[in-house]
This record gives sequence, C-alpha cells and structure tokens, in this order.
Amino acid sequence: MLRLVVLISGGGSNLRALLEASEDAAFPARVVAIGADRDAEGLAHAEEFGIPAFTVPFTAYPDRESWGAELVEQLGVWEPDLVVLSGFMRLLPPAAVEALSPGLINTHPAYLPEFPGAHGVRDAIAAGVTQTGASVIVVDSGVDSGPIIAQERVAVLPGDTESTLHDRIKLVERRLLVQSVLDIADGTIDLKELA
Ligand code: GRF
Repeated sequence: MLRLVVLISGGGSNLRALLEASEDAAFPARVVAIGADRDAEGLAHAEEFGIPAFTVPFTAYPDRESWGAELVEQLGVWEPDLVVLSGFMRLLPPAAVEALSPGLINTHPAYLPEFPGAHGVRDAIAAGVTQTGASVIVVDSGVDSGPIIAQERVAVLPGDTESTLHDRIKLVERRLLVQSVLDIADGTIDLKELA
C-alpha cells in the first residue's frame, strides 16, 4: 500500500479525487496525511475524510530554505512513499526537492513544457491557443521542468475564461493524477528510472 502525503494550497479538488479513489479497497495507495503552506480551503477535505493534516505557513519562516526544511521534517513523520503536490503554489527549495526526490510528483494545468509556472491557464488563454492540457510530472529543482509521467490535451473553447478552462482541465488532471498514482503503486512507472 503506497503511503501518500498530499500538499495543497487551495481548494484541493485534485486531493479530493485521490481521497475518493482511496475509498476503493483495491486502490493500492492511501493518503496518510495532508499538508498545506497556508490555511487552505482544501484542508476541509482532510476533516471530512478523517485524514491528519498539518500546516507549515510559508509566511511564518524567514526564508524559503528554513520553511522547506520544516516541511521536509513534518513530511518525514508520515514516512511517505510518495509526496504529491496538488495545487501547491510554492516552489520547494532545492534541498527539499533533493530530500524528497524521486518520490515527489506535481500536477500542472498545461501541456508541459508549454505554459509552466503559476499562471498556466491564464497564459494559455492569453496566447490564443486552441488547445492546452494537463500534466503530471516528477518534481525537479526547476519550475515545472521535471520528467513527464502523464499528460493529455484539453481543448480551449471560444469564450473560455480562466475559470471555465481550468475547470475543464481539472477534470483531466484528476484522472491523470489518480492513474499516475496507480501506475507508481503497481510498478508500471518506476520513478527512480524517470528522475
Ligand atoms: C490545479 O489545476 C493544479 O494543477 C494547479 O492549481 C490547481 C489546484 O486545484 N497548480 P485544486 O486545489 O486541486 O482544486
């Protein structure tokens, strides 16, 4: 049973998809803890599903490195096999990536390497593209630059706003994330090979 810790900053709809998948006894992974860098609305899912949660507020630390060190410390308590960044809007410092790699994956609402960074959906609309996508990657010390585990194209429709497009992307993202965790858990994907 793969031990997952999921890190969020926002609503946690991708986290919820993993929690719902874990309700199936046959799903070979369990979310053992949920972490956040702030008082994220998605922590409500932890409450609802009875999963321990912790917060390491980015703003409570003098610098990224000390924040990252505390985050790694708190993650270690749960002995995760895999840490999933899912709507986690903070860049981990290199030392944290080093400590967690290769059991560290991220979801991104674009077809990487297109539109990396914090505004992938907004950037796709601004670029006037007719298709973008969703990606699951292994986290490296760059910005959304790690090896791609799974990705799928998502259409951009006329009149799309950032919100309508992001909702359409999230539907794909959740499915890719659950499938990626399944593939990692059953050995179809070997992160050590990818990283
Ligand atoms: C997701 O699209 C994620 O890829 C991006 O922010 C969004 C978070 O959505 N970084 P949620 O918090 O999982 O609903």
